Amino acid sequence: MAIDYTDRIPNNVELASSRSLQRALEAWQPEFLNWWKDLGPTDFQASEVYLRTAISVDAKGWANYGYVQMPEYRWGIFLAEQQADRTIGFGDEMGNAAWQQVPGEHRSTLRRLIVTQGDTEPASVEQQRLLGHSAPSLYDLRNLFQINVEEGRHLWAMVYLLQAYFGRDGREEAEGLLMRRSGSSDNPRILATFNEPITDWLSLFMFTFFTDRDGKFQLKAFAESAFDPLARTCKFMLTEEAHHMFVGDTGIQRVVRRTLEVMEELRTDDPEALRRAGAIDLPTIQRYLNFWFSSSLDLFGADASSNAAAYFAAGLKGRPDEEKYADHVMRDALYDLEVPDGNRVRIESMPYRNAINEVVRGSYVEDCLKGLQRWNKWIERAGHAVRLRLPSTRFRRGIGSWANLPVDLDGNVITQTAYDANVASWLPSEDDRAFIKSLMQPVYEPGKMASWIAPPETGIKGRPVDYEYVRFA
Ligand SMILES: [Fe+2]
Ligand SMILES: [Fe+2]
Repeated sequence: MAIDYTDRIPNNVELASSRSLQRALEAWQPEFLNWWKDLGPTDFQASEVYLRTAISVDAKGWANYGYVQMPEYRWGIFLAEQQADRTIGFGDEMGNAAWQQVPGEHRSTLRRLIVTQGDTEPASVEQQRLLGHSAPSLYDLRNLFQINVEEGRHLWAMVYLLQAYFGRDGREEAEGLLMRRSGSSDNPRILATFNEPITDWLSLFMFTFFTDRDGKFQLKAFAESAFDPLARTCKFMLTEEAHHMFVGDTGIQRVVRRTLEVMEELRTDDPEALRRAGAIDLPTIQRYLNFWFSSSLDLFGADASSNAAAYFAAGLKGRPDEEKYADHVMRDALYDLEVPDGNRVRIESMPYRNAINEVVRGSYVEDCLKGLQRWNKWIERAGHAVRLRLPSTRFRRGIGSWANLPVDLDGNVITQTAYDANVASWLPSEDDRAFIKSLMQPVYEPGKMASWIAPPETGIKGRPVDYEYVRFA
C-alpha cells in the first residue's frame, strides 16, 4: 500500500522529491512503529493526549496543539532554515564554506557522533515507559507523553541524517537504533545514564532537569557543526528540548514547594514526619539530585580528550554558543585542568582543545545552578536555612581523571573506608527508593495532584490546570 509520506511525515526537506530517501523511510517507519508499540509508553496508546506537534519550523507551525493518539503522532523531519553562504565558525577550517555533504575523511566519525546522539532518544522513551501508571496528575501525564513523542521525533531527526547522508551504513545504523535496549545486558544503549531505570517521577524530574540538559549542550555543540544538515537539525531539536527541561525544572520546584507546605503545616523538618504526611523530605530530594547530577556529568566525556580536540579542530562539534567566545580557533591556548594526585589536587596544563569536554561541562554546571537558585529561593522564602546544592563535579564520576575515586560531596579525596561509610547518606538508599516507590500512585482526576507535589502555576497552552489533558480510551 502506498503511503503519502509528505502528508504522513510533515517535513521541510522536500521528502517528496527524493525517491531513495522515501524508500529508506518506507522500510524504516513500520519498524519504528513496532518499536513504539513494544517499547513506548505502556497501555496508553489508545488514549487521546493533548499534544504539541511540529508541522513546520516557523513560529506559527512548530507548535500545533490538539488531541492525538500517540501512535498517530506525526513524527516529522525538520531542519532549521538554511542560512545562505554559511561558513564554518570554529576550528582549523574556520571561514571555509559549511559542508552540505559529508566529507569522506569525516564520514565514520560523524556517523558515530550522530548514532551516539540518536541512541539517547529512544533510550529515554524506554527508560520512562512505565511512568504513565503512576503520574501525579493528568497535567504531568500529558507532559510525560509530550516528551516521549518528541524524543521519538528526535530519533527521526537523527535517522533522517543517517538515511539521507550515510548510504547503506546509515541504513544499518538506523536499524541498530531500534535494536538496542535501555538496560539490556547483551545489547544496551550506548551511554551509561541511558541504561539507568527511571521508575519513579522524582527520578523523571531529575532526569529531565539534568540529563535532558546534557542533551541541550550536546545539541548546541552540534548546532555549530560544519556539517550543515546536522547543525540545522539540532537547532530545531533545541526548541523542543526546552520543554523537557521545563518539566524537570518546574517538577522539582513543585515537589520542593509541596514539601515546604507540609513542613509549615506540621511545623517540623523531621523526614519521618514529612514522609508520613506523604511529602518528600528535602534530604531525600538532595540525594536524588546527587545521583542524577553526577551521572549526567559523565555524558560530557573525559576531561582530557584527544577525540574532543579532534572534533573541534575538524569542525565536527563546537562549543555550545560558540559566538560568546572571542577566539574560535584556540590553536595554541592552554587550559589548567585539576587532576587528582594522591589525596590532593594538581593543576595540569594542557592544550585547550583537549579540555573542551571540561569547558562544556563547566557551562553546563552553571546552567544547572540557575535551577537550584530558583528552588532555593522557595526554601529561603519559607524561612529555612537549608539549601539544595550541587555536589562537586569530582563526586561519583565514572569517566575521566576523577573516575572511581573515593571523593566526598565537596570534592575532597577521602579514604575508601570513609567513602563507604558515608555514601548511603549521599545517594538514594534502598529505604529512600522504597519510600518514593510507595508514593507512586496515579492521580487521574483532572486538576487533582498527588500528595507529594504542588500544582503547576499554569496549564498548557492557556488551558486551565484542571483541563482533561489525557482522555483515557
Ligand atoms: Fe531529545
Ligand atoms: Fe529531551
